[in-house]
Amino acid sequence: MKILFLGDLVGRSGRDAAGAAIPELRQSLGLDLVVVNGENASHGFGLAPEMARALFVAGADVVTLGNHAWDRKEIIPYIETEPRLIRPLNYPPGTPGHGNFVVLLPDGRRALVAQAMGRLFMDALDDPFRGLQTMLAAHRMGAQGTVQAIIVDFHAEASSEKLSLAHSFDGRVSLVVGTHTHTPSADHQILEGGTAYMTDAGMCGDYDSVIGMQKGTAALRFWKKMPGEKLAPAEGTATICGVFVETDDATGLARRIAPLRMGGRLSQAMP
Ligand SMILES: [Fe+2]
Ligand SMILES: [Fe+2]
Repeated sequence: MKILFLGDLVGRSGRDAAGAAIPELRQSLGLDLVVVNGENASHGFGLAPEMARALFVAGADVVTLGNHAWDRKEIIPYIETEPRLIRPLNYPPGTPGHGNFVVLLPDGRRALVAQAMGRLFMDALDDPFRGLQTMLAAHRMGAQGTVQAIIVDFHAEASSEKLSLAHSFDGRVSLVVGTHTHTPSADHQILEGGTAYMTDAGMCGDYDSVIGMQKGTAALRFWKKMPGEKLAPAEGTATICGVFVETDDATGLARRIAPLRMGGRLSQAMP
């Protein structure tokens, strides 16, 4: 299965670039599955329902969220009606929406997409390790399994927590990819047990910024330690950042992982 995961779309720049690129990439890379993190699509904070709809129309199969999940309150009733939009699975019981979704591909194959959120330098939440373990108990990868691939978006700040989660589930999922730091890491690899891994997919947004936000206002916060102007997304040309993985349907494990960086100011990489 050929899978593309795109990191956090930030503001109009990231949203428009990703929306335009997804149909082309589906074609040129022969993609079976596209997963996009949309937590910063609405002016940097949250995801408005019409933007989620536009991403599905563009060809995203699943949209994930993160700590900015509820910044746009209109998403709360929407997530109850749209199972392809998922939020971290380790939110407390009773939180709207779900932490995973099984995509049925046109050819009958199935892919499970799940999201968990880290706890190191993040809000206190339920245990993502045990939460993911419980969720995975219902699934087995492979030709005779419940799904042919499992993609985990681990929305977390610390690389140590992301690596620990990936090694804990190595061999049981196809891909563990980090989101949230908005900076692509160069450690994409296939772990010993066959799980593809990348600490952070990076963002889809303007990299002449502080993690997608206008650099002047963002930097001033560190200088002044006073509430300043509201942060707003940088609006220059976006680099689309993500990761491509090819899996073996017989096992669900990864055969190949390659980064994608397209457009904008970062060095370019095409799978
Ligand atoms: Fe983000
Ligand atoms: Fe985040």
